[in-house]
Amino acid sequence: MSEQSTELLDLSRQLLKAIETQNWEQYTLLCDADLTAFEPEARGHLVQGLDFHHFYFKLSGSGKPRQSTMIDPRVQVFGETALVTYVRLTQSLDDNGTPQTSACEETRIWHRKNGQWKHVHFHRSV
Ligand code: GLY
Repeated sequence: MSEQSTELLDLSRQLLKAIETQNWEQYTLLCDADLTAFEPEARGHLVQGLDFHHFYFKLSGSGKPRQSTMIDPRVQVFGETALVTYVRLTQSLDDNGTPQTSACEETRIWHRKNGQWKHVHFHRSV
């Protein structure tokens, strides 16, 4: 795997960690301010900007452990743009404390500006 692909995978892992830990500062460091997204929470609409996502980061967390794993990640780089695709497994605990796992497909687009990769678009399907 190329150095660039390794960097993009690492950035994607950091992004998922920021989401899991509700680390808004880290999330905004990785994302472009004009991030666009299709995700189930947006009910079929393309959401633009970070405000929509900020709502979830401001909620008080469950305090329960949560972990995401990227399965079979694939990185494709096209000059200053890159696609990272994978199935995301999320392990968590239900209300009874029983471990559960959910799965979704994610496509994340990164764009390099001034030598720095920024997350500019994603699509999540369940
Ligand atoms: N809902 C925020 C993200 O998946 O990037």
